[in-house]
Amino acid sequence: MPQTVAQSIARPRRCPIATIRDVAERANVSTTTVSHVINGTRRVSEDLRLRVHQAMQELGYRPNILARSLRVKRTHTIGLVIPDSANPFFAETARGMEDASFELGFSTILCNTDGDLEKELTYTEVLSEKQVDGIVFVAAGMSTEHVRALQARRIPLVVVDRDVPGVQADMVLTDNERGGWLATRHLLDLNHRRIGCITGPSEVTPSAERCAGYRRALREADIPFDEQLAVRGDFRYESGYQATRWLLALPDPPTAIFANNDMMAIGAIRAAAEHGLHIPTQLSIVGFDDVELASYVVPPLTTVSQPKYQMGATAAKLLVERIHDYDAPTRRVLLRTELAVRDSTAPPHREASAPTE
Ligand code: RIB
Repeated sequence: MPQTVAQSIARPRRCPIATIRDVAERANVSTTTVSHVINGTRRVSEDLRLRVHQAMQELGYRPNILARSLRVKRTHTIGLVIPDSANPFFAETARGMEDASFELGFSTILCNTDGDLEKELTYTEVLSEKQVDGIVFVAAGMSTEHVRALQARRIPLVVVDRDVPGVQADMVLTDNERGGWLATRHLLDLNHRRIGCITGPSEVTPSAERCAGYRRALREADIPFDEQLAVRGDFRYESGYQATRWLLALPDPPTAIFANNDMMAIGAIRAAAEHGLHIPTQLSIVGFDDVELASYVVPPLTTVSQPKYQMGATAAKLLVERIHDYDAPTRRVLLRTELAVRDSTAPPHREASAPTE
């Protein structure tokens, strides 16, 4: 049955094999935009979305979902493994990672390991089964074997915040040793000579690195390292509280405390208050991380600032590059820490116990 001109115009012109490129040209957008409209993997303006759908209809384009998934094996999802979802440091880092991933067309699956290696192993299996396109990984502890197992499956991976010994992978870290040195140097410059250090868990690299910075600053000031003043914590409030109680009960207690993260520093503030010490005149306290809360505790906390959002965003960008080119050379990004001086530090001098503010 011959077609009138009107009939042929009315019916959508079916390309024999309309491609995503045809749709992009017809809608005057990039093929990436067409892909995001089809997969819903990125926010696209209503105008662009309508143009893409109209072009698909006019061309009779049908995305070949099976071929697409087989060809690229992409789920457009990324796993984020962190050791403590209740710790604001990881929440703020996760924010940077999730924002960047979403902009790059990936959704994020958050996994909290509670700093437990068994749980970390479980989550690495779960993320593999869910065929995530890649993983941003903050180690729960000595996680070398878990990272190697993921690499054996050629799952793209970026290590963040905590170095994993014996592993060749993209890494985004901060200069923890310099941060520990900055905190201690600041207290020495205020004339403190008895400085306590509450370290993080021994099995994660930032603890040893920050403590090394603390010891370097003492060495440079010719102050002998006193083992009694270095107390093990676990990066949680309660360990900072208990460690401070222990330090203040010493025969010759410190006049200042460097806590290896803000949560333990906040625990220390509470212990000092219960001890009847006024901060900073009777005890100075420095933290590490500079989470948003550090500016709102009383007194506002002097701390070592980590670029948390930038760490997460950088990790996401490195991971997406790794997803697109698995065998590219690995990159090791070291971001700077800086000292944020607020109201929890001052020169030492002891008076009778004064009421806390
Ligand atoms: O507060 C949690 C700590 O663990 C942070 O200092 C971060 O560096 C992570 O290692």
